[in-house]
Amino acid sequence: MKINANFFNLKDDYLFATVADKVAAYKRANPGKDVIRLGIGDVTLPLPPAVVKAMAAAALEMGQGATFRGYGEYRGYPFLQEAVAKYYEGKGVALEDSEIFIGDGAKSELGNILDVFDKDNTVLIPDPVYPVYVDTNVMAGRRAIFQDGNAGNAFLPLPDESVKADIIYICSPNNPTGAVYGKAGLKKWVDYARAQNAVILFDAAYEAFVRDSSLPTSIYQIEGADTCCIEFCSLSKTAGFTGTRCGYTVVPHKLKYGGAELNKLWYRRQSTKFNGTAYVIQRAAEAVFTPEGFDETRVNIAYYLGNAKVIGDSLKKLSIWFTGGENSPYIWLKCPNNLTSWEFFDFLLNEANVVGTPGVGFGKNGEGFFRLTAFGDRENVVRAVERVERLLS
Ligand code: MLT
Repeated sequence: MKINANFFNLKDDYLFATVADKVAAYKRANPGKDVIRLGIGDVTLPLPPAVVKAMAAAALEMGQGATFRGYGEYRGYPFLQEAVAKYYEGKGVALEDSEIFIGDGAKSELGNILDVFDKDNTVLIPDPVYPVYVDTNVMAGRRAIFQDGNAGNAFLPLPDESVKADIIYICSPNNPTGAVYGKAGLKKWVDYARAQNAVILFDAAYEAFVRDSSLPTSIYQIEGADTCCIEFCSLSKTAGFTGTRCGYTVVPHKLKYGGAELNKLWYRRQSTKFNGTAYVIQRAAEAVFTPEGFDETRVNIAYYLGNAKVIGDSLKKLSIWFTGGENSPYIWLKCPNNLTSWEFFDFLLNEANVVGTPGVGFGKNGEGFFRLTAFGDRENVVRAVERVERLLS
C-alpha cells in the first residue's frame, strides 16, 4: 500500500491548528494568564432565537412516527433550497432550486468540489488567502500558481491576461484581508475566466458582512458569471453556525466544460459521497431566511462589525496601517516595528496575552501582516485593544 505522497508537500499543520497548539503550550506554561483570543474566526454569540426554535421543533418532529425522516435529498431539502433561492432573488439573482446544493459548510464544499476537476488543471490562487484552497489542491497533487495581493493593489489582485489558469479562487469579502471587490474588479475576473475557459470558485462566506450597497455580495450579480462561476456560501459566520454546520453551493446549469454539465457531475459526486446535512439543521437554516431570523442574524452581524470598529479605531490611534473591518469581520494590519508575522504573534501573546493570526500563514505576501477577528465578545475585544494600546503606545 502506498499513501498519498502529496501529503508530504503540505506544511506540517493546518494554520489554525498551529496557532491553537502554540496558545495551548503558552497556557500550560502560564496557567494563571487570561488569554484573549482574536485568532480563528469563530463566532461567540449564541444562535438566534428563531433558529433555536426551528431546530427544537424539528428535533421533536424526529421523535414522532408521523414526522420522522430518514435520508434526506442529496441536494438538500426543497424548503431550504427555496429559502436560499428567495434570498438570491433579493440580490437580483434568479436561481433554479436544482442549482442550489445544501452542504455542511463552505470549507468542506470548497475542498470536495475538486473531485470533479482533473488533476492536471492549473489552479490560480490569490496570496494571501484562506489556506484551505492551497492545502486541498496540494493534497490532490494539483499545480497551483499565485496572484499577488499587496498593499499596492489594496489586496485585491486583478487578472494577468498572460497567465493561463483553469481553476481560479476568489474570496470576497476576503479572508484574511477583509478587502472586498467592487463590480468592476469582479467583472475583470469573470471576463478573464471566460476567455480562458476557466472556472471561478467564488467563496462568499462573508457576504452578509457587506454594508456598502454598491459592493456585490454574489458573483452572479456580475454579467456572464453564471457561465463560469461556482459560488460557495455558509451560515457559519452569517448566523453562528460554525458548530452547527450548514452552507450552500450554487452550481448553475449553464456551467459546461468539455461537453459536461458541472451541476450533473457535482450531483453525481454528492449523491455518491454525501448523505446530506441533518434535517434538524436544515430546518434551523431555513429559519435564518425568515423575516424574524434574518433580523436577528443582522443584529449579531452589526455587533461583530461594532467590534471591528473598536479594533479599527484603536489601530488608527496607534497609527498602524490596516485594511478590512468595514464590510468584513477581519482586520488585516501591518505588524509594527517591522516585526515578522510570527514575531508579532509571540510578542502579543507573551506581552498582552492576546491571540491573533500571523499573516504569513495565509501566504508569502502575508509576511509582516497580522489578522484580528471581530468575532469576540465586546468586553474581551475592548480589554484586548486596551492591552495592545498599553503595549504599543
Ligand atoms: C478563519 O478563521 O479563517 C475561519 O474561521 C476558518 C474557517 O472558516 O475554517
